[in-house]
Amino acid sequence: RLDVTETFCQIAFPGHLHTQDSLRYASDFQFQDTDTLIVTYPKSGTTWMQEVLTLLFSRGDPTLSQTVPNWARAPWLEQYYCPEVLKASQGPRIITTHLPYHMLAPALQGSKVKVIYVARNPKDVAVSFYHFHKLAKFLPQPGSFGEFLDNFLDGTLYYGSWFDHVRGWTNQTRDNLNFFYITYEEMWQDLSGSLEKISAFLQCPLVAEKLNSIQKHCSFSNMKENAMVNYTQIPDEIMDHSKGCFMRKGIIGDWKTIFTEEQNLRFDQVFESEMGSSQLRFVWE
Ligand code: PPS
Repeated sequence: RLDVTETFCQIAFPGHLHTQDSLRYASDFQFQDTDTLIVTYPKSGTTWMQEVLTLLFSRGDPTLSQTVPNWARAPWLEQYYCPEVLKASQGPRIITTHLPYHMLAPALQGSKVKVIYVARNPKDVAVSFYHFHKLAKFLPQPGSFGEFLDNFLDGTLYYGSWFDHVRGWTNQTRDNLNFFYITYEEMWQDLSGSLEKISAFLQCPLVAEKLNSIQKHCSFSNMKENAMVNYTQIPDEIMDHSKGCFMRKGIIGDWKTIFTEEQNLRFDQVFESEMGSSQLRFVWE
């Protein structure tokens, strides 16, 4: 049911995809050393990375990415259908999660799973998430952008606080996680260089010709047309397609079209107080 909320570790999750059992399954999960885990706060480049990894593992062959929906080839660990998908999967598994680090910390203890964390500048995350709330019927109506931004900054949205998510995961390198950090903006500005770094981390070297093919298939324009990743096949009862597209703009700096000066000032203050001591740097425009 779309109006159900699951709360786990004080974070709300959409109830049509998450249950107490599915969230417990995630936090008790036994990773395999050959697994790759994509970790993101929503709207940070999840679908893009799912596409990149699918194409890297299939050596640039787009068949899988054009015939199997992203959730069925890189399932969200915390969503109820994940066990079914993983049971049927062959070869190295790509698993996705939006969970904060503390919920997966016990499962990751001592594991060699390769973790790829994708972060995006949080002003654009907030804007993308705001528009997504308008079309996703399993999320609360966002109200005005100002109201939504307050909730984003307070960390009261579904999936919890962006600040906690990014800090939680990026502080973990000391725990010997097999960890790779990249930003949406880096992928946007230098996709070819990003693909090389990701393939090196995954120990999946590819010749230039294959990398070029991957680059082509995971461009925004191609993904926008690919029904396996653009969410156009999700029924209207779940996503109101008249309210916008999942593959919306795919750019850096869209926040400037919606933030007022006052909202920007408040955002910068909260960002400074939450992230001031962090080494992370973001490209904002
Ligand atoms: S979700 O719901 O958490 O899985 O969403 P997520 O995939 O993390 O983020 C969706 C935003 O990523 C943009 N996107 C891309 N941008 C550039 N290039 C490519 N290939 C690409 N694929 C997805 C998508 O358009 C959403 O951002 P906005 O700003 O809303 O356009």
